Amino acid sequence: MKVLIVYASSEGQTRKIARKIMDRIADSGQAVELLPVSEAKGTDFSRFDRMIVAAPIHAGHYSRALSDFLSHEVENLSNVPMLFLSVSLAAAGHDAEDWRGLDQILDDFTAATGWQPSRVEQIAGAYKPSEYDVFRRYIMRRILAAKDPDADLDADKEYTDWAALEALVDEWLARAD
Ligand SMILES: Cc1cc2nc3c(=O)[nH]c(=O)nc-3n(C[C@H](O)[C@H](O)[C@H](O)COP(=O)(O)O)c2cc1C
Repeated sequence: MKVLIVYASSEGQTRKIARKIMDRIADSGQAVELLPVSEAKGTDFSRFDRMIVAAPIHAGHYSRALSDFLSHEVENLSNVPMLFLSVSLAAAGHDAEDWRGLDQILDDFTAATGWQPSRVEQIAGAYKPSEYDVFRRYIMRRILAAKDPDADLDADKEYTDWAALEALVDEWLARAD
């Protein structure tokens, strides 16, 4: 089996997630390629048996680079079983309204691009004040203070559950479809 991972990332957490999955797949003896979305256009997708797309949400949206890529390649991707990992801070919590928001963002995105991944999983990302400019830090401090009252607002914090992520990828790769 040969797996392609395409990822987008602003502050690096989704890149870390993508690399972790790449290592996991390689360690299991399978072939894997990792591409940032900026380099993924024009890839011969027929070389791959499976594909994983990983992308973060910023201000209620996936990136423009991701929607451009998927809109452009949608016809070429329809035969590849595809897992979409949607990375956000909303997925770190249990707020029903936040989770409805994640569903809505996904619905809007698939409607706009015409892309239909065969499976979608919401993955908790990270809070990274070390990577934010002043404006982002201000916004993100307010969001995190509401979401995680015990968090140190000056410190980076990962919410990604690495063991659950690896179990998810193992399970998905073991499935026939
Ligand atoms: C400016 C900014 C806006 C964000 N907007 C959202 C959002 O609308 N919903 C959400 O759940 N998370 C939001 N996040 C959290 C990111 O999805 C989370 O930090 C993720 O780990 C970022 O992935 P990356 O490091 O790969 O860019 C936002 C983060 C930043 C910095």
